[in-house]
Amino acid sequence: MDFNVPIGADGLVADPHRILEALSTVRWLQGQGARTILLSHFGRPKGRPDPRFSLRPVAAALSRYLGQPVPLAPDCVGPTARAAASAVENGGCVLLENLRFHPGEEANDPAFAAELASLGELFVEEAFGAVHRAHASTVGIPEKLPSYAGLLVSREMEELGRLVEAPERPYVAIVGGAKVADKLPFLEGLLGRTNAILIGGALAFPFLAADGVDLGASSVEPGLDDAVRAFRAKAESLGTRIELPVDWLTERTEDDGSSSVVPAPTTTVPADCVARDIGPRTRDRFYEVIKDSKSVFWNGPLGLAEDRRFAAGTREVLAGLGTIAGYHVAAGGDSARVASDLGVDGAFQYISTGGGAALEFVAGETLPGLAVLPDA
Ligand code: ADP
Ligand code: 3PG
Ligand code: MG
Repeated sequence: MDFNVPIGADGLVADPHRILEALSTVRWLQGQGARTILLSHFGRPKGRPDPRFSLRPVAAALSRYLGQPVPLAPDCVGPTARAAASAVENGGCVLLENLRFHPGEEANDPAFAAELASLGELFVEEAFGAVHRAHASTVGIPEKLPSYAGLLVSREMEELGRLVEAPERPYVAIVGGAKVADKLPFLEGLLGRTNAILIGGALAFPFLAADGVDLGASSVEPGLDDAVRAFRAKAESLGTRIELPVDWLTERTEDDGSSSVVPAPTTTVPADCVARDIGPRTRDRFYEVIKDSKSVFWNGPLGLAEDRRFAAGTREVLAGLGTIAGYHVAAGGDSARVASDLGVDGAFQYISTGGGAALEFVAGETLPGLAVLPDA
């Protein structure tokens, strides 16, 4: 399971999308009288127990949605995990504590994977959001147990597969967000596959910086100039149009600590300002490209959309998308939450539970957690 969900300031699950989407498989297993042991990672706790990364809020949410108590075992291996697993009754389920409390998870340590595998008889892969990781839970266990793709993983492959095999054209990708170095290699995989890529958010910064644009006080990830230039050259040779912001809404921090919104009508950002959202001219340019599209893949907010002052770029572009017929897919934890908070999730025919996994999938990568499943 990928129960790596956002938690609110109240300590409760803030967006249950990933949990809800995984329930069909849990309910099906329960209906078959299976004894279900749920495994998931949560956040990036660096291989040791850390209460800030406990799955406790997820266990509470699961109990509510399933209408039956879902206990949380304090560890995913060792005597408490074994006791919890053997206490599950037919049709019942238990959630084991965060897999990433052990370094063996991310290292895909064979002994750790063997211990996890020893808890059950069959493995169902339902953590679509994590299948791009070659970890013990995604690759180690399926090497040791008969393994199957779950209902959600199968659906993700089918829906996202529509953008891989023969997407209706023009096919446009809208990308933004913040994980710049993470995303750049996979964006490259979209070149040639897509007809146009619209780049907003902090993801646009290194592209503009490599062109020598002054982005004021915006924090630009260093060392990406060569990668960005290679990307642009490849886009040109494969005929994928790249659109970057031509104006911004920026934020200036005043002497008294308050902050104000300063529009920047060109790509250049004033020295004391930080680019926070795409501006109105950019929104219009993006709309001109998507209005003729037949397929759209979106990952990454086009600005700091959690702050209502900087949400207009994402909101308006997606609202425009909602008026266009076609097959539209959204992916990414923050993206899905922002689209629903801004009331524009109706623009999409499918909202993936994967972030990086979905991006790699549509970029045509082989995902290790899927490659290891015989039926996927
Ligand atoms: P996802 O989880 O959908 O894959 P990311 O994690 O890459 O997306 O990025 C989402 C984050 O990027 C959001 O929190 C958003 O506010 C932030 N972001 C986008 N553009 C900017 C910007 N210009 N300045 C600061 N943060 C930004
Ligand atoms: C995600 O949130 O994209 C998945 O749960 C994977 O998390 P990770 O990027 O920490 O591996
Ligand atoms: Mg994110």
